[in-house]
Amino acid sequence: MTLPLYVQGAWFVGALLFIFGLKGMSSPASARQGIVWAGYGMLIAIAATFLIPGLQNLALMVLALVVGAAAAWISGKKVKMTDMPQMVAIYNGMGGGAAAAIAAIAFARGEAHGTVATTLAVLGALIGSVSFTGSCVAYAKLQGLLKKAHRLPAQNAVNVVLALAAIVLGGTMIVTAPARPELIYAFFAIALLLGLIVTLPIGGADMPVVISLFNAFTGLAVGFEGYVQGNPALIIAGIVVGAAGTLLTQLMAKAMNRPISNILFTPMVASGGGEAITGTMKEVGAIDAAAMMRYASKVIIVPGYGMAVAHAQHKVWEMTSILEEAGVEVKFAIHPVAGRMPGHMNVLLAEAGVPYDKIFDLDEINGEFAQADVALIIGANDVVNPSARTDKASPIYGMPILNADMAQNVIVIKRGKGTGYSGVENALFYTENCRMLYGDAQPMAGEIIQHLKAMG
Ligand code: TAP
Repeated sequence: MTLPLYVQGAWFVGALLFIFGLKGMSSPASARQGIVWAGYGMLIAIAATFLIPGLQNLALMVLALVVGAAAAWISGKKVKMTDMPQMVAIYNGMGGGAAAAIAAIAFARGEAHGTVATTLAVLGALIGSVSFTGSCVAYAKLQGLLKKAHRLPAQNAVNVVLALAAIVLGGTMIVTAPARPELIYAFFAIALLLGLIVTLPIGGADMPVVISLFNAFTGLAVGFEGYVQGNPALIIAGIVVGAAGTLLTQLMAKAMNRPISNILFTPMVASGGGEAITGTMKEVGAIDAAAMMRYASKVIIVPGYGMAVAHAQHKVWEMTSILEEAGVEVKFAIHPVAGRMPGHMNVLLAEAGVPYDKIFDLDEINGEFAQADVALIIGANDVVNPSARTDKASPIYGMPILNADMAQNVIVIKRGKGTGYSGVENALFYTENCRMLYGDAQPMAGEIIQHLKAMG
């Protein structure tokens, strides 16, 4: 069916808004605006769908919209910043599931005609199904519902067998189109199982990369199904999501120095058998920490997951302002995977009002630590672990880290002796130039502020 020009035009406008929205999201300064633009794009695309002549099941569509919008509104309002990765995972999984469901309907009705359309429908269904169950597992893991990484005895062989089975069944569906119902059921069962089995053994610090990879998968699946349905808005949205997800996956994998194949098939485990760590942890009080920074020329602050948990960003910015007024140069160093989601620290610091020109990426700032009098680490751990440089047995070996250990003095604010996300002991905390300031990041930053004020 050829769609009316006004529907196609509206979808085109929606797709343009997705692209502008994504462009806006590439900088913290315009990210909020970008989200709003993309939201309007989605609104236009959905509204235009209702204008298609001869639409059936209107009541069901409205019901789905109401349920979906209500669930998204409530969960979006309630979600904590630290729980954002699992929310992204589950929303993304829904996208993959929706693409697979569209394909399933197309097969059941025998609607996918021609080899190209049938092939794309099968590919979209396979990728969407894997993304759906894989993202559900990712959600369950990050939400703490699934505590352990479950690895089968011959995991990689099982992965290969399942993938081959899905490909063979999918291929048969293409050749024998319209496919028999039992073939369709078997194909979807295997595809859904594949996502589950591939993701279950993946754990720890690899999960964000996996979520991003599934995000790219979902985009691809949606794009393919868009082609099958003749819907340009779906094609463009799918391609945009697929490309953005692929780039983000590559960036994160690079930041963790883990090839994507390695992430999927050789899960990271804390071995505990690495280099022996020598030295002792030395404590410092808030007053001494304040004095070290007050009389420094240059301080580099490294925020991490603990700053997010403690909601300490506002106090950290207040502390920074006092130091700057006293003539100290203060910069923020952000590791690409600090916290629990891409851009986590940038978002928090922006929320607290830290100007963007004080925030530096790993590559920009790493050369400056050697000239810093103090590196202040606030709730960060893995991203400053020097074992990543030297200890070949460490599960984080090869991950680029912030060179905080090269500063003259290092002060670490954390509550106790807890390890970071990877579960690895941090050699930095035992070095000669490092002092531990134990406590929750927010009250500790508050204490430092009091002492700084008293020092005038
Ligand atoms: P982590 O290595 O996870 O370390 C956080 C540290 O913060 C912990 O050692 C903890 O020690 C401390 N902490 C927790 N709550 C605190 C509080 N209220 N006040 C003060 N300190 C607190 O964090 P990181 O250095 O940011 O590294 C991120 C890790 O997460 C990496 O391994 C990364 O691969 C992984 N990861 C990243 C992402 C993305 S995309 N950013 C997503 C998922 C996972 P105590 O318990 O002793 O306080």
